[in-house]
Amino acid sequence: MVGAGSSPPSLRWTTLLYFLVLLCALITPGVSVKENDFKRCSQSGFCKRNRAYADNAIALGSEWQAPYKIPSEQASFKDGQFKATISKAIDEQGNTVRLPLTISFLKSGTARVTVDEEKRREKDIELRHNSKARKERYNEAEKWTIVGGLDIDTNAQVAHESKTGIKIKYGPELAFEADITYEPYSIEFKRDGVTQIKLNDRGLMNLEHWRPKVEKPVAEKKEGEEGQEEKKDETPEVNPAENESTWWEETFGGNTDSKPRGPESVALDITFVGYEHVYGIPEHAGPLSLKETRGGDGNYEQPYRLYNSDVFEYVLDSPMTLYGAIPFMQAQRKDSTVGVFWLNAAETWIDITKDKESKNPLALGVGAKTNTHTHWMSEAGLMDVFVFLGPTPRDVTKNYAELTGTTALPQEFSLGYHQCRWNYVSDDDVKEVDRKMDRYNIPYDVIWLDIEYTDDKKYFTWDGDMFKDPIAMGKHLDAHGRKLVVIIDPHIKNAGGYHVSDELKSKDLAVRNKDGNIFDGWCWPGSSHWIDAFNSAAIQWWSSLFNYDKFKGTMENTFIWNDMNEPSVFNGPEVTMPKDNLHYEDWEHRDVHNINGMTFHNATYEAMLSRKKGELRRPFVLTRSFFAGSQRLGAMWTGDNQASWEHLGAAIPMILAQGISGFPFAGADVGGFFGNPELELQSRWYQAGAFYPFFRGHAHIDARRREPFLLAEPHRSIITSALRLRYSLLPAWYTAFYHANRDGSPIIRPLYWTHPSEEGGFDIDDQFFVGSTGLLVKPVVQKDKTTVDIFIPDDEVYYDYFSYKKLPTAKGKQVTVEAPIETIPVLMRGGHIIPRRDTPRRSAQLMKFDDYTLVVAVGKKGQAEGELYVDDGDSFDYEKGQYIHRTFKLEGSTLTSTDAEGRDTKSIEEGEWLKQMHGVAVDKVIIVGAPSSWASKKEVVVESEGKTVSVPLDYHKADGSRAAFAIVQRVGARIGADWTITFA
Ligand code: NOJ
Repeated sequence: MVGAGSSPPSLRWTTLLYFLVLLCALITPGVSVKENDFKRCSQSGFCKRNRAYADNAIALGSEWQAPYKIPSEQASFKDGQFKATISKAIDEQGNTVRLPLTISFLKSGTARVTVDEEKRREKDIELRHNSKARKERYNEAEKWTIVGGLDIDTNAQVAHESKTGIKIKYGPELAFEADITYEPYSIEFKRDGVTQIKLNDRGLMNLEHWRPKVEKPVAEKKEGEEGQEEKKDETPEVNPAENESTWWEETFGGNTDSKPRGPESVALDITFVGYEHVYGIPEHAGPLSLKETRGGDGNYEQPYRLYNSDVFEYVLDSPMTLYGAIPFMQAQRKDSTVGVFWLNAAETWIDITKDKESKNPLALGVGAKTNTHTHWMSEAGLMDVFVFLGPTPRDVTKNYAELTGTTALPQEFSLGYHQCRWNYVSDDDVKEVDRKMDRYNIPYDVIWLDIEYTDDKKYFTWDGDMFKDPIAMGKHLDAHGRKLVVIIDPHIKNAGGYHVSDELKSKDLAVRNKDGNIFDGWCWPGSSHWIDAFNSAAIQWWSSLFNYDKFKGTMENTFIWNDMNEPSVFNGPEVTMPKDNLHYEDWEHRDVHNINGMTFHNATYEAMLSRKKGELRRPFVLTRSFFAGSQRLGAMWTGDNQASWEHLGAAIPMILAQGISGFPFAGADVGGFFGNPELELQSRWYQAGAFYPFFRGHAHIDARRREPFLLAEPHRSIITSALRLRYSLLPAWYTAFYHANRDGSPIIRPLYWTHPSEEGGFDIDDQFFVGSTGLLVKPVVQKDKTTVDIFIPDDEVYYDYFSYKKLPTAKGKQVTVEAPIETIPVLMRGGHIIPRRDTPRRSAQLMKFDDYTLVVAVGKKGQAEGELYVDDGDSFDYEKGQYIHRTFKLEGSTLTSTDAEGRDTKSIEEGEWLKQMHGVAVDKVIIVGAPSSWASKKEVVVESEGKTVSVPLDYHKADGSRAAFAIVQRVGARIGADWTITFA
């Protein structure tokens, strides 16, 4: 956010900084402003060294001798775990580095490979700080990330063992195998005897071990040499892999990182054998199918980087780092999916290359298989890799979810539309926007307050002149079921007399600088301190700040937005904290950087759980920064995008990447954060946004007002229709969230995930399915476009959602669909039943007890199936069985509703919400593709709860423009009860 926005007095210096950065960019041709603000691999010491290490190994080919080996006498396998010590000779005297290796075979079928470094004698290690943590590699990423799935599979067994290695069978029906070779150390993972993943087969493993600092005479610096570190890149070096210049100190953009522990990176090559596509490792603004990163036509030159950063106006189609990091990658080939999760919280870079391997050199590539090679490099910490062998995307997703947790079941309102801007300036402004939305019949659920609501950027306070009565404002919203979200950032203004700042200091709960003093940096409030949410005492204290009686002006319908938690530090290196800052128990910021945002999000989540004694409601907290596991805490958005067609297009692959990486509650700022969208762009953006799991319009402080009611027709109506569509489909969205909560499945799903046999869909990332509803969506993301080509991944029937037009069968081909500006290209896949609520209302809350409509898209075999999950959308009572979960099935001429879990629902003791749901029925059933044999029917029979009634059926014959459809009116059967409709 440096330089973004208007310039409050305390921030004028940031504008200056912005211009300095701009200047730097102008003198580096071919590189844009943002790219220059952040490191390239060659400017990051460990990345440069490890890339050079790889270059050297690859250049040497078969002559390369990977230095890590396992002395066989130290290896053992017992109770599902293989233990050994990897060693590496480090000098001529025979000294070695000893790296304890544990390979755990987990019940889920996942294998975990952990390499640590044995503590060396204290006198060997020169340390500036004398604490416990300094002698270990960071080993607490697990504590923040892993919530389950670690049970060991004691059925894993040795299949073969010798002096040179060991083969271990594990997983479902012992179909998986890990072949561990001792010298050099490498592992080959097989499924059903076929190699899927190899670790260290290219010998790029490199664990920079601890070493004492040997002072060398420093050549005197000449004047003007400071800040010229980028130039060093151009200087030829003898062996850059051994380049010591960045071992003990590193400088970038005028900031020096003192590196008291010296070099300690971990790197490993991971090859996906026979896999052409790899996905995941968000957050990046690029295609879903990841690109190669070592140059060449259409490829990137830089590795994908994971180093959570505040990258304003980010560049598209780039491996540059963004706000969050999930080091989880999946690989896909026809009918097979595998994956790896690299559990490391430090700065990480990932190189990707592909090669074609042909058994027959004369075959000229025909029948060749592609291997994808990846090279993971992290600055510090353990080497801790989880290996998933699939075989389906669903398996990999589920196994990853078992480890890191699933999406929290959200507050139902949070699936509605969120109206945000930086800023609504007063309580009157908020109420006026609210009234106007109503006046124009535009549904929304939440209005948001950005940083300006505070008194001088002091969180937990209000600007009393502009927000005179926040509680009255809250009540005004509550009257029609609406909520307020207020922003709370992790930087705390350094101001005496501000209770939060005073307590933070007196309780010693802030992040410290390298000298152990409270860290002071710049953010929105000017001089600030940062809460250290790694400390449980800090979490406790933070929780107390949100109590209604402490954070005055908030009430039951106030929820929270956490921004800037990478953390963003305007005057810090790469707009974040110095890496040598210290956290709880003296871990360096370098060790924990990528987890930092999640710990803050976690503290806020915890706080929301305890705002009032006895109040047990689901929190809603939006975060900008995230890590693996953040899905358990709330939603994320893709940060500061721009009001451009390119950004509209880029958001879809980004949100899909989130979905397949375990954090599917994701969205992008609708309309674009920076700039002013033209009307067509804004309309198209709302149409796309209606299919983001998290749907929020947001705008920068300098952007013109653009609330939907302000727009000229036809755009106001177009946007209103998109919003109404979202609201009518809320039951389907909520059911998709339920699945995400159960097993981690994505909410919007790319084609490789839904159709892993259809190779034609593997690199498609501009269309997607919504949950398991069968809705296939391809938003229009180009100007003046009035048709789209949709890829059809199977031979099912597809109908246009709005017109019921039946599309020609086109498995593996594109079908052109009309998409004039009023239309969103949405298809229904035959064989699905979609639950909806059709009464237009002002907010999700007001729809809570509305009747349902079921839309049945009849499949090619005359069948269809669908599902509805619903609960009170607010409390945790669902954990006590207080929910309705139905399966709907059309078979032949009967449509039935039964409990999806086979429960005897009559035996459930009903709470308030379930009782109220007795009044909620299925009102209408629309059968698209209804068989012609029903054409003469005027009535159908509905049986439910011992009663049988006849209700009217309207049958509409197929015509040239659409399929036949039938509507059953006034079904009247209770949504929570079993029922049958007979059509014959
Ligand atoms: C940066 C966030 O990305 C943006 O959404 C927000 O409006 C500003 N910070 C101000 O809080």
